[in-house]
Amino acid sequence: MEKVIFNGEILERSEAVVDLEDRGYQFGDGVYEVIRVYDGKLFTGEEHVERLFASAGKIKLEIPFSREEVLSLTRELIRENGVKLGSVYMQVTRGTASRSHIFPDPSRTKGVFTAYSTEVPRPEKALENGVAAITADDIRWLRCDIKSLNLLPNVLAKQEAADQGCYEAILHRSGTVTEGSSSNVYIVKDEKVITHPATNLILNGITRQVVLKLCAENNILFAEEEYRVEELLQADEIFITSTTSEIMPVVKVDGIQVGDGKPGSVTRRLQALFQEEMSK
Ligand code: PDD
Repeated sequence: MEKVIFNGEILERSEAVVDLEDRGYQFGDGVYEVIRVYDGKLFTGEEHVERLFASAGKIKLEIPFSREEVLSLTRELIRENGVKLGSVYMQVTRGTASRSHIFPDPSRTKGVFTAYSTEVPRPEKALENGVAAITADDIRWLRCDIKSLNLLPNVLAKQEAADQGCYEAILHRSGTVTEGSSSNVYIVKDEKVITHPATNLILNGITRQVVLKLCAENNILFAEEEYRVEELLQADEIFITSTTSEIMPVVKVDGIQVGDGKPGSVTRRLQALFQEEMSK
């Protein structure tokens, strides 16, 4: 039987009941994280939990548990479910109260913390061959640094990509590339990795932080700088990163081949370094 976390408890999934007036359900009033599990262990678990608390702080949402409690409950969940290769989805909402845009009184309404685990294989074929992407207008709000439950623009962009047989939508604001619908985006030009700076316009991915650390430690040139769609289309290499996509080569954008149409050497090198990192 599958177990889940419902507030401070580990329950059977069928026992966890969310109210119709949960603010996450009605307003998207909450924040979330997705954490990878490799070999039965959380990968960068502390960093994800830290970002969960940071996102919550930015929307003035108090999580009714400590970071340590969230981590130890999550570890217990994957142990109980026997997850070896998978992921944990967790979210916190502002709780249940009769519907009003105004925050409920925090002394009476506590945040609702839920989490579940799933088995997820590594996307090995796509990691080997690369994927295709489209470009799309970034129509999101101006606080994309918050991992909020409001994902409608991301969902619409990802669906547009899927409708065109593509893996990801690379978003841009008036021609400046920001990130993917559920990933960070990088170009490689003359051996240098370039990605949008960690401002309010992107989510500072945990995988992004690992990639930049790997670049710094291994003498791979990198810059956190804005770049344009034209530079994207003329890049030597493109890759995207996320918890579930890892370091994913992009070999086609808007039907145009990237470089020679195969994953490039800098992307390959980072993939190898990342593989070492995840098996540590
Ligand atoms: N998405 N940017 C956006 C908009 C994202 O939704 C994600 C992750 C990332 C990459 O962040 P990280 O490396 O920390 O996973 C960047 C998750 C996986 C999701 O919504 O499923």
